[in-house]
Amino acid sequence: EQKLYDELYRPQFHFTPEKNWHNDPNGLVFYDNEYHMFYQHNPKGNEWGYMHWGHTVSTDLLHWQPLPIALYPDEGSTDKEKCTAYSGSAIVDENNLLGKQNGNTKTLVAFYTSQHCGQRIAYSTNKGRTWEKYEGNPIIPLDENDDARDPKVFWHEESGKWVMALYRKSGTDEGTKGVSFYTSANLVNWEWQSHIPGFYECPDLVKFQVTNRPDETKWVLFDGDGSYIIGGFDGQSFTPETAKMKSDWGKNYYATQTWSNIPDSDGRVIQIAWMRGGKFPDMPFNGQMSFPCELSVTKFDYGYQLIRKPVSEIEKLHGKHYSWENKNVFPGLNDNKLKKVSGDCLHIIGEFDLKTTDNFGFMLRNDNKSTGTEILYNVKRETLSVLGCTVPLPPVDNKIKLEILLDRASIEIFANDGKKVISNCFTPTEKATDVVLFTNGGELGIDKIDVYEMNSIWEK
Ligand code: FRU
Repeated sequence: EQKLYDELYRPQFHFTPEKNWHNDPNGLVFYDNEYHMFYQHNPKGNEWGYMHWGHTVSTDLLHWQPLPIALYPDEGSTDKEKCTAYSGSAIVDENNLLGKQNGNTKTLVAFYTSQHCGQRIAYSTNKGRTWEKYEGNPIIPLDENDDARDPKVFWHEESGKWVMALYRKSGTDEGTKGVSFYTSANLVNWEWQSHIPGFYECPDLVKFQVTNRPDETKWVLFDGDGSYIIGGFDGQSFTPETAKMKSDWGKNYYATQTWSNIPDSDGRVIQIAWMRGGKFPDMPFNGQMSFPCELSVTKFDYGYQLIRKPVSEIEKLHGKHYSWENKNVFPGLNDNKLKKVSGDCLHIIGEFDLKTTDNFGFMLRNDNKSTGTEILYNVKRETLSVLGCTVPLPPVDNKIKLEILLDRASIEIFANDGKKVISNCFTPTEKATDVVLFTNGGELGIDKIDVYEMNSIWEK
């Protein structure tokens, strides 16, 4: 008998719904001290289909309180092929443009795609607890030639307009699939402004203050897999200034979205993704969300780059702590500095000096026979590998930094201060919980390593 939320492959610090299929995060909005997260959800089974918006809220981006389903398929929905509630976003109707405001509680407005039934609005006047469909739907009617979807709406301060990024074609040609930008003064009437091809599903456009250039602002346009282009945005069209860059080098980072309405006092850009494609045999759920991350843009001598790190709230889940400084590791399993560590959920933060090692890494969920999951840094190739995914990772001053989030069904690695990230689902074959830090061919220096056993978010 598997205990609810403590099943063999149940993520212990990543969001999963109690049961049934979920995919994209939807409607991410912060309001009245709550982070709302909706998600593509099939309440009828563990497969994709018959999409609804599931709903959960959190005050710390860690512990998620389940709420009833927020959006049902629209009227006229017959089966999974029509008018089901596809992906979208949500905002706070600060100036009561929809005219639905209830006392001092602002209206939350969700923009979603009704499959083959156009772009639509739903709203809530009670902090997201119940939702109504807007009477003037659809706000952007269906174009039969297109399967436009995934509206992401945000406020553009400089032009004083609401902007929608919508995935669609710009004509009938499949090759034009990309992002169309629309603007609106009232959230209901939308005017097409421009189109940029070369994007696929779930667009997001976000403004950043460049961290090491306080006077510089850049806009980042995200594609469904989190890859991105840095450029400018004038309220109507996006001007690319870089090539498209990869944000994640793993197999499972998809349908990214950032939270809207994060207060200025916080100022973070927070992103979460669906970890698509994990397989969790015999589990009541299917898939998981990534750990929420803080994004920033930094200028390096080679150009601008997105940096991604787990949100600092993660520290609240830290349990037992182990730490080592200025230690040398030599080849051979009996030199494992982490032999005291045990746990199927860990947060590891390490800074390594490459000294004379040929390669080094971790065996996670190891059973003392070296059958765990390997993370490997190859010095000659300057690459980091895990679970069949490899990322180029040049050392900085002969050093490599690795921050690893190990959960029961995922491994996320943030390398060299968030410059390279690999997110992967995995299904450990063993219940083993040992961790090995190894080096081959020569000596490895540990400048510092901190290992925390992670507490479960599901514990009361
Ligand atoms: C991305 C996606 C979206 C769509 C949703 C349907 O994973 O295909 O484009 O709105 O999933 O579930």
